[in-house]
Amino acid sequence: MLITLWAKAEERHYSSPFLIDKKAEEMIPQIDYDFSKFSKSKFSQAGVCLRASLIDKETQTFISAHPDAVVIQLGAGLDARYERLGSPTLTHWYELDLPEVIELRKKFFEENDRRTFIPLSLFDYQWIETIKAHQKPILIIVEGVLMYFERAQVKAFFENLCQKCEKATLLFDILAYSLVGHAKNHDSLGSMDKEQRPEFKWSELDSHILEQWHPHIHIGQEYYMSDYNRGRYPFIFRMLYKLPYFYKRFNQRVVRVVISEK
Ligand SMILES: C[S@@+](CC[C@H](N)C(=O)[O-])C[C@H]1O[C@@H](n2cnc3c(N)ncnc32)[C@H](O)[C@@H]1O
Repeated sequence: MLITLWAKAEERHYSSPFLIDKKAEEMIPQIDYDFSKFSKSKFSQAGVCLRASLIDKETQTFISAHPDAVVIQLGAGLDARYERLGSPTLTHWYELDLPEVIELRKKFFEENDRRTFIPLSLFDYQWIETIKAHQKPILIIVEGVLMYFERAQVKAFFENLCQKCEKATLLFDILAYSLVGHAKNHDSLGSMDKEQRPEFKWSELDSHILEQWHPHIHIGQEYYMSDYNRGRYPFIFRMLYKLPYFYKRFNQRVVRVVISEK
């Protein structure tokens, strides 16, 4: 959560940034943490911002098509997408995370008539009833979260969602397949103390496997992130991505899934 916050604040140093996040810039000096340990993590800094910018664009497109939307960010951390999108007017914007994270979030962000924080685990499915109660188009965002859970947990999450929610759009990311089990080799997670470092547990080589998990899951769009890196990924990686084998296994993806009966 602090790595993605740091990454978004750092983006101010680039002349052609993926995003501008004033809120992240404001928060960093107020948090007592040694962010300097991430200063060499250029690749993942770019990756976090590229991922967030792709999801920002997709979210904006959804809201433009559905001005009455209900949006929920699961595992929101200290993300300021609501601010980056200019505090959009819609039916409701929810941000869910574990109770201790929501406590921290409340120090920096304010709830309002159309914005609520939910202190729950994403596996505590009562949040689905909350968003469904509005009877409006639903967008669910899960960014930088699912990779830390086992495949069986991620599958159960999708199955529960499909059983409890007839129609929704989901935006989420899938970790580079080859990184599963290799958090220690990651350029920012690798800088963390071993005891605190979470492990990468879930990815799929082919996202379409999700369509076999439940008949209501339909892959709408898939972004292979190296295609959008604007020369920001290290040179050696940009060369390696030209190889189909590497492209497929070392690429993080942002995926839009539609949940519907047909
Ligand atoms: C890497 S951070 C990503 C934060 C944010 N989405 C972003 O992109 O900046 C992962 C987040 O998932 C949250 N998280 C972990 N397990 C969770 C769970 N079971 N339910 C909800 N959130 C969870 C963490 O607290 C953390 O805020």
